[in-house]
Amino acid sequence: MKERIDLLIEGAKQAINACESVVDVNNVKVKFLGKNGELTALLKGMKDVPAEQRPEIGKLVNVARDTIEGLIASKQADLASKELEDKMQRESVDITLDSGVCQRGSLHPTTLVQNQIIDIFTGLGFSIAQGPEIELDFFNFQALNIPKDHPARDMQDTFYISDDMLLRTHTSPVQVRTMTSQKPPIRIICPGKVYRPDDDATHSPMFQQIEGLVVDKNITLCDLKGILEKFAQQLFDSNTKTRLRPSYFPFTEPSVEVDVTCSVCHGKGCRICKGTGWIEILGAGIVNPKVLDNCGIDSKEYSGFAFGLGIERIAMIKYGIPDMRILFDNDVRFLKEFK
Ligand code: PHE
Repeated sequence: MKERIDLLIEGAKQAINACESVVDVNNVKVKFLGKNGELTALLKGMKDVPAEQRPEIGKLVNVARDTIEGLIASKQADLASKELEDKMQRESVDITLDSGVCQRGSLHPTTLVQNQIIDIFTGLGFSIAQGPEIELDFFNFQALNIPKDHPARDMQDTFYISDDMLLRTHTSPVQVRTMTSQKPPIRIICPGKVYRPDDDATHSPMFQQIEGLVVDKNITLCDLKGILEKFAQQLFDSNTKTRLRPSYFPFTEPSVEVDVTCSVCHGKGCRICKGTGWIEILGAGIVNPKVLDNCGIDSKEYSGFAFGLGIERIAMIKYGIPDMRILFDNDVRFLKEFK
């Protein structure tokens, strides 16, 4: 029996030494220590060993099992670390090689213009306010003096989610949210995505706006003109002039459309300004006293001005982009122009 045990240990040693992979070792483990393995067979033979020798032989069998288990464990660890090393060697990447595939990105023109506009207004003392894109009808329309079924709703086609909920059609609801939660003086801009079911060369179902709001004592149209002139001169060039044309918005009274002198022909008239020398850039006005009162601000004590512009439209003017849809195609050849 002793000899059989020694032979078994010797056999296992050789088999383990010959293993070249973790899988081989597992097979050896099954062969020697498994249910139908050689050690188990040996144990079955114990019944033929004379009773007085059994304790001694039993010990030897235990030692054999421990020895084989130990050898297997250390071989397994060796092979596992060797396999890992080989894998790392095989899969290593030379990071100094030029892949030729990966190109460096750049900011999208809409983002560039948005950042520039935000910079200008924060430089003029405005802070940034934001709000939800899924908005209540109340904040988007009713508080802004556009009751349900009012014809002015046709000015902004709307994606309704339910009777009372919609995708905001402008960022004016952020102004309402600010006025209902903050006391004047207020001086904010509201950048963000807005949604209207329009889709053609100058409209997109999702576009970005920046609206502005100032509420304080004695605010007049002159303040609006002054701020917007400073803004236009920083956005285009220092010779840019602005003019106000009468317009209509339910939330401002009086309301204006703001034009700037064409930055391409400087007022002479060209293809971009359709020969007029002027380009419309935004809508604005004096906040309708009804809106202030709706938001809990006393319209006898305070007044304000508000304006709103579309960022894609400004990007189109600034970069001479003829079709808004190009801004959404993300053609790399186009985007590269803005690096
Ligand atoms: N909210 C208007 C729009 O999106 C723009 C605007 C804002 C006009 C503020 C006047 C004053 O069309």
